[in-house]
Amino acid sequence: QQAEIGLIGLGVMGSNLALNIAEKGNRIAVFNRTPARTKEFLGEAGDLAANIIGCETIKEFVAAIRPPRPIIIMIKAGDAVDQQMEQLKPYLEANDILIDAGNTNFRDTIRRFDHLKGSGLTFIGMGVSGGEEGARHGPSIMVGGTEESWKRVEKVLTSISAKFNGDPCVAWLGTDGAGHFVKTIHNGIEYADMQMIAEIYGILRDGLGMSAQDIGGVFGQWNTGRLNSYLIEITEKVLKANDPITGNAMVDMIVDAAGQKGTGKWSAIEAQNMGVAATGIEAAVAGRVLSSQKAEREAAEKIFGLPAPADKPHDGMAFLADLENALLAAKIAAYAQGFAVMAAASKENGWSLPMPTIARIWRAGCIIRSQFLDEITSAFTKQPDVANLIVTPAFSQMVKDTDASLRRVVSYAALSGIPVPALSSALAYFDTYRRARGTANLIQAQRDFFGAHGFDRVDGKDYHHGPWGSGAAIY
Ligand code: 6PG
Repeated sequence: QQAEIGLIGLGVMGSNLALNIAEKGNRIAVFNRTPARTKEFLGEAGDLAANIIGCETIKEFVAAIRPPRPIIIMIKAGDAVDQQMEQLKPYLEANDILIDAGNTNFRDTIRRFDHLKGSGLTFIGMGVSGGEEGARHGPSIMVGGTEESWKRVEKVLTSISAKFNGDPCVAWLGTDGAGHFVKTIHNGIEYADMQMIAEIYGILRDGLGMSAQDIGGVFGQWNTGRLNSYLIEITEKVLKANDPITGNAMVDMIVDAAGQKGTGKWSAIEAQNMGVAATGIEAAVAGRVLSSQKAEREAAEKIFGLPAPADKPHDGMAFLADLENALLAAKIAAYAQGFAVMAAASKENGWSLPMPTIARIWRAGCIIRSQFLDEITSAFTKQPDVANLIVTPAFSQMVKDTDASLRRVVSYAALSGIPVPALSSALAYFDTYRRARGTANLIQAQRDFFGAHGFDRVDGKDYHHGPWGSGAAIY
């Protein structure tokens, strides 16, 4: 009996996705560049192997799938995907669908989608989030491609996706690169979320002098409240774990230099390209960059030393409540920015990205899954075209309730010399966004002085240059 679907690439994500597909009653053919891995995988599959056809050659693999064939490619993003597509092409037939499920740059997805246009083959760019566990038991799936190709894979993708109160976390989001773009912004928000959590950890560790265990307890407490989310949950677990070798807190034995594979950076770059302020994501990417310059930081600490922490807040419980509120306020800013980037990209690429749907399919399965996303879903369902999440009634109330805490926390960190780039960028973003009269009038005057750029006047009068006198540009 032929398979209904195929999957190439039995790495961590691919093999777990294949097991998930098989477990949901779908017959699947699999192929891996090294056949030894395919054998090993079939061994690991246990009872599920009955639903899996392991193939040693591409020819055999394609023949094992019933046409028209959906084929998931789950390999390292980049040139390897193009090579894999070329290798497959000679064996494929009209209406077969190639589905790239990697963390691909959406521009590559648009290119591949266009390349296959008119060939009879179709391309889907599919963002998959949730790590190993998500892939195995239910990821959040963001699909980009033609609506017709989506209709053909909807059933199988729905069967393997995460469910939030029974609601599947998978959706068609638009044509060509829409799915991969949304996954990229998901990751940008993931970077911001993780950075902000790490900054709060820094305040508790370096400001209040708390142990990893105790900080884990604080996050555990918060996970029962409004911050309830996967990232807070794993933060508690991580902080409470001990190193089997030394017995110390595991987190204290890990070098403070973070890696990155590119999706956070792409989010920041795309935001900048479209003129959208995504300061939380930018701060998170810059935070990882500086973290990796460990040797330079060590040398700089020898020169500057560290400032003494500010006086401990006298009401410890109140300060913990401030930290919880601050994290919520900053999170609102970062998510508002991420959604604003998607709104701009939707216009620019003609996608009609459905904001309530995106929030809805992020509620379960993905790395940023949380209760909070259910609230975002409601806000966008009521106002799908709102300019900024911050001004929706529910979120503006939340910001009003928490911004004073964010202000106190950022002040404490600044006085203590504890870096909080993402938290402070959130505060600056909010303070800038909600102030009708800013200071760019001075920038406009400077631009006019040296470059005769001209300015708009508050009274609307038709006189657009200043009386700058000597040294100024002449218009
Ligand atoms: C997910 C994750 C996953 C991975 C990214 C980001 O949604 O399941 O985002 O895709 O964590 O590759 O990784 P880096 O932190 O290495 O850039």
